[in-house]
Amino acid sequence: MDVQTELTRFDPETPLEEALTPPASWYQSRVFSGLERETVFRRHPLMAARDDQLETTGSWVSMELAEESWLVTRDMKGKLHGLANSCRHHGSRLCEGEGVGEAIVCPYHGWTYGLDGALAAAPGAGAIKGLGGPDCRLPDFPVEEWGRLLLLHPSAGSPLDPGLKAMETILKESGWQDAKWVARRRYPMDCDWKVFVENYLDGGYHVSRVHPGLAGGLELPEYATTWEEEWVLQTCPESFPAMESPGEVRYLWMHPNLMVNFQWPWVDVNFVIPTGPGRCEVVFDWWVEASRAGDTRFVESCLAASDRVQAEDASICSRVQKGMRSASYEQGRYSPAREGGMRHFHRLLMEDFRSSASA
Ligand code: FES
Ligand SMILES: [Fe+2]
Repeated sequence: MDVQTELTRFDPETPLEEALTPPASWYQSRVFSGLERETVFRRHPLMAARDDQLETTGSWVSMELAEESWLVTRDMKGKLHGLANSCRHHGSRLCEGEGVGEAIVCPYHGWTYGLDGALAAAPGAGAIKGLGGPDCRLPDFPVEEWGRLLLLHPSAGSPLDPGLKAMETILKESGWQDAKWVARRRYPMDCDWKVFVENYLDGGYHVSRVHPGLAGGLELPEYATTWEEEWVLQTCPESFPAMESPGEVRYLWMHPNLMVNFQWPWVDVNFVIPTGPGRCEVVFDWWVEASRAGDTRFVESCLAASDRVQAEDASICSRVQKGMRSASYEQGRYSPAREGGMRHFHRLLMEDFRSSASA
């Protein structure tokens, strides 16, 4: 397969009414997974942690995505850091999961780093020159707080999209700042990560057919999609809004793989992690308005409803992945009325791919 040819099969300039979607090769080849690893997942801020995971000094959270891994830490002075998660000695992965401690100790030979990434000790290593120098400290990456999340910039040159800063009203009306985090669940998926994102960005097109339960609470004819820079926002009036609700659900996607859903009294975050060509995992975090967090029955029933929606999406996404494997399927079409946001995603992908010298 020739990457160049497969890339030019998607034309981001064709009017939506005539446009073809990216070819099936983008969703099932190692070459594309590799290209995404070097471009898409290196050029934009990525979800690294929730703020509650890094409340205390000495806490750290590791994240892994597309064969790369980083740490977010809060040092003993309370300062946040984004750090590489590979030891400076021979590269061993330093941490997995999350934890609290005064130092990061490599499991291999015990090199020990402060939570700011500086090498504090290299036990038994003898006289190495320059131990306190930049070669021996963990490379650092900018970390930024947004809503209740900590986003890590995998390359120093990628600022958080300024357009997202302008979403203050949405954040405020959501009550997210004071909401309580209640659960995280992980869902392995039999589809490429982009299939999941596209399903999210189809402008509500699939909702009435795939999610009859969800559709009952939404005024689907009024579903609206807007996009700019590196985000897509979808809104839809609720049929029976709660008193404090802004009256609509708001689904915000941030390129490439983060989705934040505001549906009073809930906020849930989904981030999708590629786990190989044609496979991915979606991580869900849920927050609920603080006064409802203790109402176990309410929380459990809402989580169960969310699980159902996710199972419906998982099933349809895996059918898409299967269908795309057929030699008879090469490229699809867009719904001009609905899928402008999805095409925006494809354009951003194309920009990412083009940023690589090899593409
Ligand atoms: S690889 Fe980390 S101490 Fe040797
Ligand atoms: Fe869905």
